[in-house]
Amino acid sequence: MDTQQRTFLPVIIAVKYAMIYKRLVRPLLFRAEPEASHERVLVLLERAQRSPFLKNMVGSWCTYHDPRLRVEYFGLSFLNPIGLAAGFDKDARVIQILPKLGFGFIEIGTVTARAQSGNPKPRIFRLPQDRALINRLGFNNSGAEAVAERLEQLGKPPVPLGVNIGKSRDVGIDEAVSDYLYSFEKLFRFADYFVVNVSSPNTPGLRQLQDRERLEELLSALAKANEKHGRDLEINQRPILVKIAPDLSWEQLDDILSVAESTRVAGIVATNTTIGRERLVSPGSVVREAGGLSGAPLAKRSNEIITYISQHTEGKLPIIGVGGVFNAEDVFDKLKAGASLVQTYTGFIYEGPSMVKQINRDLMKKLERTGAKNLSEFMEAKEL
Ligand SMILES: Cc1cc2nc3c(=O)[nH]c(=O)nc-3n(C[C@H](O)[C@H](O)[C@H](O)COP(=O)(O)O)c2cc1C
Repeated sequence: MDTQQRTFLPVIIAVKYAMIYKRLVRPLLFRAEPEASHERVLVLLERAQRSPFLKNMVGSWCTYHDPRLRVEYFGLSFLNPIGLAAGFDKDARVIQILPKLGFGFIEIGTVTARAQSGNPKPRIFRLPQDRALINRLGFNNSGAEAVAERLEQLGKPPVPLGVNIGKSRDVGIDEAVSDYLYSFEKLFRFADYFVVNVSSPNTPGLRQLQDRERLEELLSALAKANEKHGRDLEINQRPILVKIAPDLSWEQLDDILSVAESTRVAGIVATNTTIGRERLVSPGSVVREAGGLSGAPLAKRSNEIITYISQHTEGKLPIIGVGGVFNAEDVFDKLKAGASLVQTYTGFIYEGPSMVKQINRDLMKKLERTGAKNLSEFMEAKEL
C-alpha cells in the first residue's frame, strides 16, 4: 500500500459504512462552515478520481448493479434511476468518480456563459433538525468555456451526463436567450442531455423566464440551435429538459406545460429549491436566511408538482423528480407521483456516500417481492 492509499484508508472505510459516516465523518464535516466542507469533499473526490486504485475501491463498495434497474428515457439508457442533482458539481470537477458512488446519471452546473463568483459568503446554511439546507450561492461557476475544457480533459463519464445551464447574472433578462445559446453551443458536444434552469431563486429576474412568452422564445431558440449543432457536428440532437420552481401556481404550470409541448422539450425537472419556509422547526435566525430551501421539507410540494404534471400530460412527458430524496421510500413516492427518474442533493449530504447503493438495493427488494420482471414493468404496473 503506497502513501496515498494509506492516507485515504480511513475515508474509504467511512465510505463503506453508512454508520461510520453518520457518527464520525458527518459530525466532522458539519463542524466546518458548509461551503468549506463542500470544497473539502470535492478536493478529496478529485484526488480519489486521479487514482485508479481508489476509484475502483469506491466503486466496488458504493455501487450496486442489477440489469433489472436499467431504464430508458429520451433516448438515453440509465443504469439505475437515481441521479445526482445540479449544484453539487457545478464545474464538472469530479464527473469520473461520481458514477462510482452509485449514481445512474449525473448533472453538472448550473453553468453560465460568463464565469462568476456568485453571492457574498456565507451563502449555504444547514438546518439539521429539518434535514434541510438553505442556499443562495447565485450560480458561482467557472463559465461555459472553462467547463467545456474540463469536460474535454476528463473525458466522458460512464453514465449519462446532464448539463444544466443558466443565465449569467450581469446579463439582462432581454439578452437572456443569446446568453443561454452561448453555453448551449460550448457544451453541446459533452452533454447527453441539457437542463434549462429558469427556476433558481438566487439570480435576480431568472424566474421571469418561466413566463409563457419568455419561455417560448428561449426554448424555441434552443430547439433551433439543437437542430443546427446536431447537423453541423453530425451528431444526435440533445434532449432538452426544463427545470422548474416548486413555487409556481397551477396556472403558471399550465403555461409551462403548453410551451413544453409546443417546443417539444424532452422532459421536466421538478423541482428546484423553494422560497417557502413552511413547517420548519429550525431556529428562526437560520430559517430567515434568504435563498432556496432544499431537503425533506421540499418533498411534499415537489411530489404535488410531479403529480400535477404527470396527470396533465397523461404520463407522456418524462419527469425527473427532485426534492427531499433521502431513502427508497422517498424514491417510491416520486415514482408513484409520476416521476421517471429521480435526483438527490441534500439527502446525499445528510446520508453519505452509501446512500445510492442502499436505495438501489431496497428498490430491488421491493421489485422482487412484486415479481415484476424489471423496474420499467414495476413502474408501469403502478404497484409501488
Ligand atoms: C447548495 C445547493 C446548490 C444548488 N445549486 C443548484 C444549481 O446550481 N442549479 C440547479 O438547477 N439547482 C441547484 N440546486 C438545487 C438542486 O439541484 C435540487 O433541485 C434541490 O436542492 C432539491 O433537491 P434536494 O432536496 O435533493 O436537495 C442546488 C441545491 C443546493 C442545496
